[in-house]
Amino acid sequence: MSDTTSAGRYGVIGNPIKHSRSPEIHEQFARQCGIALSYERILAPEDGFAAAVGEFFADGKGLNVTLPFKEQAFELAAKRLTRRARMAGAVNTLWMKDGELHGCNTDGVGLCSDLRRLGHDPADMRILLIGAGGASRGVVFPLLEAGCELLHVINRTSSKAHDLREHVVALEPDASRRLSAGGLDDHSGDWDIVINATSASLQQTLPELPDARYRKNSLAYDMFYAGEPTAFMLAAERAGADQVMDGLGMLVGQAAASFAIWHGVEPEVEPVLAALRSQVGQV
Ligand code: ATR
Repeated sequence: MSDTTSAGRYGVIGNPIKHSRSPEIHEQFARQCGIALSYERILAPEDGFAAAVGEFFADGKGLNVTLPFKEQAFELAAKRLTRRARMAGAVNTLWMKDGELHGCNTDGVGLCSDLRRLGHDPADMRILLIGAGGASRGVVFPLLEAGCELLHVINRTSSKAHDLREHVVALEPDASRRLSAGGLDDHSGDWDIVINATSASLQQTLPELPDARYRKNSLAYDMFYAGEPTAFMLAAERAGADQVMDGLGMLVGQAAASFAIWHGVEPEVEPVLAALRSQVGQV
């Protein structure tokens, strides 16, 4: 998939799309690796995703997919999905190979690489994951793959957390010992890593959950990012988390994993993250 001779066409598709940071991230990776590419933002009408993808791949090489199209991208690439995509039920990375559309989901590996960067390797950790929507579905399998001791998913609507567990266990029966689910109140015990995957941070509101108990050297991680600490991060600090972080590193990490799929090269995350952080603001 490497393309070092001519400028390949890449992009990110969504609705809305103006806010997307993906072009600057991929352009920086490309400069680092000496790869010529163009990377554009594509606004697709809500009912026009498949047509826009078809049009793009007339000459395009790779496409990132963001809200609200990740499930539709999964359907479009249904014949050629990676295991991670099947586990997530959603696709954020598309490419064409041998005339067929392929799909992967790199959100979870982006999260895991960011946790490692922060010194909190998920291996052997007790992890509490809050939320059972699309954001959460994308990361459950990679966290299990990374070898966590226990992954407990809790959600305001507890049936959705149980459904998510059943979906993963049906595809990966070995996960049943390490993956559990419950409602928001159901988080007894103490945790090495607590991850907020609810959309509550978008409204700067705190997920309706009692404070989790944090272990020594613990991390509270919000999958969303903003120029300032989210309500979840502030509450976690008060509850005793040793470190709190937003999801900017996950954003760069998932982009790096897409880049590696398309170009066969692993770019360096740190300098790109530092540049982005100086624009977004410190947390
Ligand atoms: P997406 O697929 O984009 O993640 P979603 O499916 O609407 O969006 O999921 C949003 C998640 O945030 C859900 O887990 C939701 O909980 P419910 O399933 O009970 O709706 C959660 N969420 C949103 N606002 C919340 C809040 N204020 N407190 C707790 N959970 C919240």
